[in-house]
Amino acid sequence: MSKLHLEPLHSDFGARVHGIDLSSAILQIELEEVCELIDTYSFLCFPDQSMSDDELLMFTRLLGEPEAEHITLGRTGKAVYFGTVGNVSDDGTMKGNDHPNTRYQTGNQLWHADSSFRERPCSFTITHAHEVPGEGGATEFTSARAAYARLPQTLRDRLQPLKVIHDYVFSRSQVAPVDPAHAASLPPVAHKLVKKNPRNGCRNYYVGSHARSVVGWSGIASRELIDDLMARATRPEDIYSHQWKAGDTVIWDNRCLLHRGTPYDADRWRRRMRQTRVAGTESGSTLS
Ligand SMILES: [Fe+2]
Repeated sequence: MSKLHLEPLHSDFGARVHGIDLSSAILQIELEEVCELIDTYSFLCFPDQSMSDDELLMFTRLLGEPEAEHITLGRTGKAVYFGTVGNVSDDGTMKGNDHPNTRYQTGNQLWHADSSFRERPCSFTITHAHEVPGEGGATEFTSARAAYARLPQTLRDRLQPLKVIHDYVFSRSQVAPVDPAHAASLPPVAHKLVKKNPRNGCRNYYVGSHARSVVGWSGIASRELIDDLMARATRPEDIYSHQWKAGDTVIWDNRCLLHRGTPYDADRWRRRMRQTRVAGTESGSTLS
């Protein structure tokens, strides 16, 4: 019998999971159970974990191939597997509200799926919270699987053959300038609009802030459809807001969830979370 204890977090998705130490050697049967829970719940929070960077990367490798972080890769060609979310530098100093990095991270306050702009987007993001603000800095999540299930069949049929162009430069240059080498490393890419989970067959639509247009459609018609799909997925009742606690290790499925950060006062609070991603198994096609 499983030793995992689950607390559901939202009627559409998400669970808090007790009864496992992710930093220790995990049995194959436990790993399989965690993988099945990810496919079922899309969002898992494991509270009270102690997770060094090495342990986080080791756990990431159990779920698949770690994804090289795209900013360092694009700017320097070097593969690193960690991102730091928040306002604390590696040397422990704080970056305030006016720091360029803090401003750059405000782009994450738009609904998105991580690395949807890559030719092979990541499947999962794993985030371990080391330090969290006393106020603000929650991350909100919503399920595009549940939103797809609510669509009328006629609209589902209309979406089925479509592809959408995801474009990092389009979305991020609205927030902050994008480094030229970084921009050149991320040409626009077309992905299927409707995705199917390979394990359980559940479908969802795949949009978010990086979604620029529908292949073969005008800009206006594309915007109308993408905005409509976003609105259908982000009604207040669809959203689960995760209030981070230090020690949370969270895994979310970017193939079917959208998420966004919420503001916090970076002059007042420290926020330090370490993040890895698992490369996906499906590729889109680049346009240049
Ligand atoms: Fe994100």
